[in-house]
Amino acid sequence: MMNSFLSRTSYWVLALFLALAGSATAQDATSAATVSQQGVTPGGTAGAAPATGGGDAAAIQAGDALFKANCTQCHAVNEKVVGPALAGITKRRQIPWLIKWVKNPAKVIASGDEYAVKLFNDYGKQQMPSFALSDKEITSIMAWVDSQGAGPVAGPTKENAAKVDGAGGDTADAGGAGAGKYADVLLIVLVVVLIVLVVTLVIIANLMKDVLRGRKDLDGRDVEILEQRFDWAGLYKSTALRGIVGAVVALALLYAGVQSVMAVGLTQGYQPTQPIAFSHKLHAGENNINCAYCHTSVYKGKSANIPSANICMNCHSQIKTESPEIKKIYRAIERKQPIQWVRVHNLPDLAYFNHSQHTQVGGIQCQTCHGPIQNMEVVYQYSALTMGWCINCHRETPLNTKGNAYYDNLVKLHDKSNNAVPFTVSSNGGTECSKCHY
Ligand code: HEC
Ligand code: HEC
Ligand code: HEC
Ligand code: HEC
Ligand code: HEC
Ligand code: HEC
Repeated sequence: MMNSFLSRTSYWVLALFLALAGSATAQDATSAATVSQQGVTPGGTAGAAPATGGGDAAAIQAGDALFKANCTQCHAVNEKVVGPALAGITKRRQIPWLIKWVKNPAKVIASGDEYAVKLFNDYGKQQMPSFALSDKEITSIMAWVDSQGAGPVAGPTKENAAKVDGAGGDTADAGGAGAGKYADVLLIVLVVVLIVLVVTLVIIANLMKDVLRGRKDLDGRDVEILEQRFDWAGLYKSTALRGIVGAVVALALLYAGVQSVMAVGLTQGYQPTQPIAFSHKLHAGENNINCAYCHTSVYKGKSANIPSANICMNCHSQIKTESPEIKKIYRAIERKQPIQWVRVHNLPDLAYFNHSQHTQVGGIQCQTCHGPIQNMEVVYQYSALTMGWCINCHRETPLNTKGNAYYDNLVKLHDKSNNAVPFTVSSNGGTECSKCHY
């Protein structure tokens, strides 16, 4: 029967529509998960899905997540952070070189590669860490970098021609609005097309009903079907539907509950307003003042101190003396009261953390834990500061044993027993409870 065929088709279209809407929500959920991984330390590939086929949009999206999880503390696309701005990187360097570089920059520099050695010297011999990423993951990061920037690269080299083409195509399709949005646009278009389809089918069905009503030669069964109304009351009473709605509501509540429980005590992103509009961007960034000029104990002691007003006066007895914000420093000194800075980072007392162990002995950059402080107008807590965050890094980071006699024998012992595994903080006992709790 034409009529029942039509209604069956519209059910299928409806089912397809629901499935699509479902996948859209699922996609949101995964991207939220990736964002919450931002505090992951270098070398951590957690949370960032590798680019598994699915075309360039997928690769670029994976590259975006990988970049955020591993590179943002030191790189931006159009701006120098700790390392160089990466815009146009595939024009400067070819993909095979970039893969070698990201996997092990120290090795490329040690090999005497002219470009790498010059770059290393230009950046004050700061060592970029090695990353245990696959070729495909690194390529997808570069695809994402290309998709940001002013557009595709001119004059592609043989090695990266295919990739550049792909990125260029996406940028054009998305109207230059960044290829990350490309997938979303496609989804919206699909949904709109489906809605139009459903509406058209309903209209056609009604038209055909009208035509059929005009005919006299219908038997009883056909008339019955023709006059059938959709049974809304039956639907409302249906246990199956109630069950489905109940299950969806229960799942949503459970999800919200788990999210809020996980967030208890998590202060990532905390950014209080400070009593004086002190800007790290202006001081540590634009004026390039060394962190330890103000945080004098960070390489020597457990805590990094907050500078006293006297340190500010080293400069501000001369610079900007008339500014209302600077006057607040003068007032604090006159009243002999310290400036009431609001504390941003605060571990609970049950955990022991020592700055000099990490900055001086471990050789870890401030930015690895605190993010791009030199770009912050107002400081915020960049990392999660959870136990998992500490332990992840201890598992992944090789010990900085060079020129440290304390480690000589331990390294020998480790190399003798299991040479294949790198000598990480955790192989030296850095994940034992008593190291951080007492
Ligand atoms: C802890 C800081 C740090 C992190 C994290 C970091 N880099 Fe770097 N990167 C640097 C520095 C510093 C340089 C400059 C060279 C040097 O001093 O060794 C650099 C140089 C580069 C270069 C060469 C740039 C040019 O202009 O030729 C590329 C490419 C690069 N990094 C990619 C990455 C990628 C991809 C990631 C993430 C997977 C990453 N970096 C993570 C610090 C970092
Ligand atoms: C001119 C002095 C000065 C310099 C240079 C400076 N800081 Fe600070 N820093 C401060 C002051 C003052 C505060 C407290 C006010 C605030 O939070 O903005 C602070 C706060 C901080 C905090 C947050 C402390 C908390 O309350 O948990 C961090 C982290 C930090 N600085 C890191 C750095 C790093 C990393 C650098 C180098 C890139 C740096 N600072 C350079 C003066 C300085
Ligand atoms: C090593 C020198 C130096 C030190 C130390 C220093 N500053 Fe500055 N500060 C500067 C410079 C340079 C400027 C930019 C002046 C300009 O814009 O002309 C500045 C600007 C400022 C401004 C912006 C003023 C305005 O109205 O535009 C504030 C607020 C400020 N500093 C607060 C502080 C505080 C608080 C401290 C101590 C924690 C401090 N500074 C320590 C060099 C310093
Ligand atoms: C291994 C991660 C790590 C590194 C590297 C690191 N910090 Fe911190 N920093 C922390 C943690 C964790 C806290 C919170 C400590 C607490 O509450 O006891 C903190 C707190 C601070 C504070 C607030 C005062 C305090 O000690 O509680 C300042 C200021 C600060 N860091 C500056 C720096 C500077 C400057 C550097 C680089 C020279 C640096 N940090 C490197 C993890 C790190
Ligand atoms: C970015 C990586 C990183 C993060 C994040 C980190 N650590 Fe560490 N930690 C290290 C390294 C590297 C060492 C080894 C330094 C050395 O002794 O050579 C270390 C050493 C230690 C040690 C001494 C271990 C030993 O064997 O003596 C303690 C304690 C410690 N960390 C506590 C913490 C705590 C607490 C946190 C979180 C609040 C934390 N760390 C976060 C990298 C990290
Ligand atoms: C590398 C450092 C480190 C090691 C090793 C470590 N912890 Fe922790 N632990 C922390 C930090 C930092 C916190 C505080 C985290 C927070 O506030 O979210 C913490 C918190 C805790 C808490 C309190 C949780 C809460 O919500 O109050 C318990 C319990 C705990 N750790 C048990 C352990 C046990 C058991 C071990 C050994 C298997 C261990 N820890 C090893 C750093 C460490």
